[in-house]
Amino acid sequence: MDIATMATVPARPTWIEVDLAAVAHNVRALRAHVAPAAVWSVVKADGYGHGAVPVARAVLAAGAEGLAVALVEEAEELRNAGIVAPVLLLSEPPPGAVGRARAAGVEPTVYSAEVVAESASVSAGDSAGPWPLHLKIDTGMHRVGAQPDEAVALARAIDADPGLHLASVWTHLAVADELDALLTEVQLARLDQVCAAIVAAGVAVPCRHAANSAGALVHPAARLDRVRFGIAVYGIPPAPGLDGGVDLRPALRFVSQVSHVKVVAAGEAVSYGQRYRVAHDTTIATVPVGYADGLRRALGTAGAEVLIGGRRWPIAGTVTMDQITVDCGPGSSVARGDEVVLIGRQGTEVISAEEWADQLDTIAYEVTCGLGRRVPRRTATDSRG
Ligand SMILES: Cc1ncc(COP(=O)(O)O)c(C=O)c1O
Repeated sequence: MDIATMATVPARPTWIEVDLAAVAHNVRALRAHVAPAAVWSVVKADGYGHGAVPVARAVLAAGAEGLAVALVEEAEELRNAGIVAPVLLLSEPPPGAVGRARAAGVEPTVYSAEVVAESASVSAGDSAGPWPLHLKIDTGMHRVGAQPDEAVALARAIDADPGLHLASVWTHLAVADELDALLTEVQLARLDQVCAAIVAAGVAVPCRHAANSAGALVHPAARLDRVRFGIAVYGIPPAPGLDGGVDLRPALRFVSQVSHVKVVAAGEAVSYGQRYRVAHDTTIATVPVGYADGLRRALGTAGAEVLIGGRRWPIAGTVTMDQITVDCGPGSSVARGDEVVLIGRQGTEVISAEEWADQLDTIAYEVTCGLGRRVPRRTATDSRG
């Protein structure tokens, strides 16, 4: 093997397995749950850390009608991989990047007169036909979106331009994961009023959408014509226990192998800062994964565990950049090469992304999005063992 070929084969036995059959199952289950609303899958942030391109192919094959991303670059990655499905850009393209969005065939969100005007000039005389634009309304999240009283003028400007087409009017819910939040009702009512005003002004609204995973799973009124499902596609509920009764299957396993084993004598301490001192002789296994891979340093002090041989073992001491140490107990038969599961199932035991999120005082979204770029992603079919 020459060096160029070797560089494509990971030398380190640490990887992320993505089960595309689970992704497809989730999409089918979510479609059934929200029908007749269409399902669009959010694959931004490299498919929430799962790998945008393989996930995009799997969701489309399972019946998703379109994709959504945050960045023009993310849309370009999908197009470069040969994916031709509709791609919604969830925020306005940055000034100067509107032409690039058009070239990538992405359908942008708009909420300012400047970007509508730039979109009109970019698509003037374009033989590709009117460019679908999606008008986003700020109904209460106050992150991005047109104010409700700006909506009619923007819709008219889009409708009046032969190079543009108003494809949807939409909003984003701020507290959809809170079951009885009044704001969700208020946001849906505001979207409804804005759409009615646009229609009264003589502009058709062919599609309305508001729901993310939480909105669609637990607020039937939020499903409207389309749902933008992100986290649920990956088999993770948007908040603990919030699955709306849908059988969601986690698609990701974060896996490594024991690289080194030794017995550490009673009274010795393990890893930086000597924060883990052993009371009796014990077996310490080293695993080649660290905070540079998204296994956050705080997990070392939060009581996090890993799975080896179908059992849970605690991370021993400080998580380092490339390696962790694990206390496998006295007289352990753990050996170099044994599989270590950091997130996922091994036998009957499971460590979920939600478990890490709980230990890190964050949400599972941040856990999977934070898994390191240097960890190879493999679909289940090309994974080891
Ligand atoms: C505008 C928008 N819609 C939909 C989603 C998908 O949300 P979720 O992953 O909770 O389904 C996101 C994700 O952040 C988003 O920003």
